[in-house]
Amino acid sequence: EKGTYPHFMLKEIDEQPFVIRKIIQEYQNENDEIKLDPEIRQAMKDCDRIYIIAAGTSYHAGLLGKQFIEKLANIPVEVHVASEFSYNMPLLSEKPLFVYISQSGETADSRSVLVQTKELGHPALTVTNVPGSTLSREADYTMHLHAGPEIAVASTKAYTAQMAVLAILAVDTARAKDIELDFDPMQELAIVATAMEALTDQKEKLEDLASEYLSTTRNCFFIGRGIDYYVGLEGSLKLKEISYIQAEGFAGGELKHGTIALIEDGTPVIALATQENVNYSIRGNVQEVEARGANSMIISMEGLNKDGDAFVIPQVHDLMTPLVSVIPLQLISYYAALHRDCDVDKPRNLAKSVTVE
Ligand code: M6R
Repeated sequence: EKGTYPHFMLKEIDEQPFVIRKIIQEYQNENDEIKLDPEIRQAMKDCDRIYIIAAGTSYHAGLLGKQFIEKLANIPVEVHVASEFSYNMPLLSEKPLFVYISQSGETADSRSVLVQTKELGHPALTVTNVPGSTLSREADYTMHLHAGPEIAVASTKAYTAQMAVLAILAVDTARAKDIELDFDPMQELAIVATAMEALTDQKEKLEDLASEYLSTTRNCFFIGRGIDYYVGLEGSLKLKEISYIQAEGFAGGELKHGTIALIEDGTPVIALATQENVNYSIRGNVQEVEARGANSMIISMEGLNKDGDAFVIPQVHDLMTPLVSVIPLQLISYYAALHRDCDVDKPRNLAKSVTVE
């Protein structure tokens, strides 16, 4: 039930800090160790490469899951869009592990890859919000997102939950492989939950930004570098699916290879600047688009922010920024859709789970 909320999407955005705290609780034992099915731990230890298969928002979470697993657990990861996988089946490593990320656990495109890889005899782990779902039943192992039912077609809390669970999985694997880490996922996630709360309390400001930048525009671009780029992809999917604004996410460095031709007077450009190593370059990209007339908005992080940034998120661990920086993007999309009189929870032409290929 929506309770006092006008839309499920807004309720689900607000639930994110609670979901993160629930995940901390569910994945920790009484000795404060990571609680995980020992078979999953073994499968992670045994594999020589991970193939993440997913669609839409879950694919975007997969792109960030790759960062966690490669940086923390030192296992190479490939991330594939489910519907494309069979056409371009990569050469597989000797001991692959397939990880299916799916909120619903019913996405037909992902299921068809699962059937194929099972036939080849490869182990499969499903990360899902619905443990009894098809992808969960048909895989060897399941990790539960514990996000509670997600009703709005636009996925919000499942995305942040997917990243949290993948971060925990990566750290568990690192520990199982005796890799020394200076990263306690539960502590970092607790900081994330508090930061999320600070953001869901700033709805008015985000509503103002949505009306200032997006109330009449036909298009909007998101730019970022490194992990900010992946969050931009998610921000653009959110905006396009519920507000019908043509929104695209681009890597900052790709602008001058074509995209910048699209910038006209007043084109909104939302730039993410939460990473120290690319802060200078992404701000350079913002100057380039502004010089061509763009109406740019910088979303940065405390410690890296500059005067004139439109919105600043609280400071969290570098790897954890996507869980936090996506919140203003979700809320800006929500208010943009609302101001444009769109059906926020049930956007046209879309279904909550896509059960046909
Ligand atoms: O249930 P799944 O996570 O497998 O769904 C995948 C996509 O269909 C889904 O994320 C879709 O892109 C959402 N509408 C995005 O908000």
